Amino acid sequence: MQNEGGECVKSNVRGVISLQFKDLASVKYSTLSGAQLREALLHGSGVCGAGQPRSDFEFSVLRLDLGTRWAMGNKYFKLRDNLDQLVVQKARRVLSFGGAWSNHLLALSQTAQISGIQSVGVVRGEEGFDNKLLARMRSHGMRLHFISRAQYRRRHDPDFCGELCQQLDCDTWLPEGGANELAVSGCEEIASLIGNRSKFTQVISAVGTGATLAGIVRGCSPTQKVTGIQVVSDPGVFDRIDHWVGNGVSASWSLFNGAGFTGAGSKSTGSTSAGSKSTAVSPYAKPSSRLLEFIVQFYKSTGIALDPVYTGPALSAALSAAFLHSIARGEKVVFVHTGGLAGTAGFISQFDQCADRASVQHYFARIHALTGQAR
Ligand SMILES: Cc1ncc(COP(=O)(O)O)c(C=O)c1O
Repeated sequence: MQNEGGECVKSNVRGVISLQFKDLASVKYSTLSGAQLREALLHGSGVCGAGQPRSDFEFSVLRLDLGTRWAMGNKYFKLRDNLDQLVVQKARRVLSFGGAWSNHLLALSQTAQISGIQSVGVVRGEEGFDNKLLARMRSHGMRLHFISRAQYRRRHDPDFCGELCQQLDCDTWLPEGGANELAVSGCEEIASLIGNRSKFTQVISAVGTGATLAGIVRGCSPTQKVTGIQVVSDPGVFDRIDHWVGNGVSASWSLFNGAGFTGAGSKSTGSTSAGSKSTAVSPYAKPSSRLLEFIVQFYKSTGIALDPVYTGPALSAALSAAFLHSIARGEKVVFVHTGGLAGTAGFISQFDQCADRASVQHYFARIHALTGQAR
């Protein structure tokens, strides 16, 4: 069987269609050269305004963005076991939630289609609204159902989800972003990709619901530090990650919100501390012009395309003055590129304001190539 990216999808022995990341074994890192790191620091948070950029640590990017078009980045790891379980349960139709530019709904539409399950996307917005991403979801057989912002706020309420399932003739639902225990256990595999290759001392990843980070923490060794960078203001995220991490042997972890650390946990010392719950996170999905310039310049110097909602803000925060204090001399840091590039099409007009128009064109050409999506 072939999906739209032309990649092969095999059935496993249980007869369940197992979604294959295109060549998981060859997932690679890009280690920034000294010049690329310096450029990134200069374009990042102005950390080097007066002084010199630091060059005494190594910074690499784990390229989950290169894995597959149909469940790019963390989506493959979050959805794979969920879809496999639905197949085993013989579920006919599943619903889930997202915004009009949701990478999660796009990935669900594709993985559900591959798994032979019908899908319904419950979208925050007005009936009749349309865009290229929604059109792609429909082209994968996803039925779209629009609800108001007020209704959308009830997406975590099991009674509301149950009513929607009944109304839309679905057997079950996946939470927004697919964030549940199966997603967390799926994301443990990200850690094995990191751990197998090299001895990184610190692993950094963007945090929304925290499911991806919790999986990485569970999968990393106690000698590694894992840092999540919050891109959404969410006072519940620390407790959620702590719950998902559980009591097994895992790495120590902390959360950073763009200005400071907001909590830390370590099972080896048995300590957790939810620090300040105040937030310095910029408004979700409202990238500043400075962030967009950073993304374009980062692409220009490294060839790595970041998105403006998750990986862009997180990587730029990881190179900020406030964060750099936590990186010791000689550390080998790896940033997990969690994908998110399909949703970037929702920001084209903002990117068009960037000074370096030629680089914006190249950036979108790359995104087009990686996601199979027209500009
Ligand atoms: C590209 C990207 N990176 C990171 C995240 C954050 O993942 P999580 O919600 O598991 O924290 C998301 C949300 O799913 C995402 O789309």
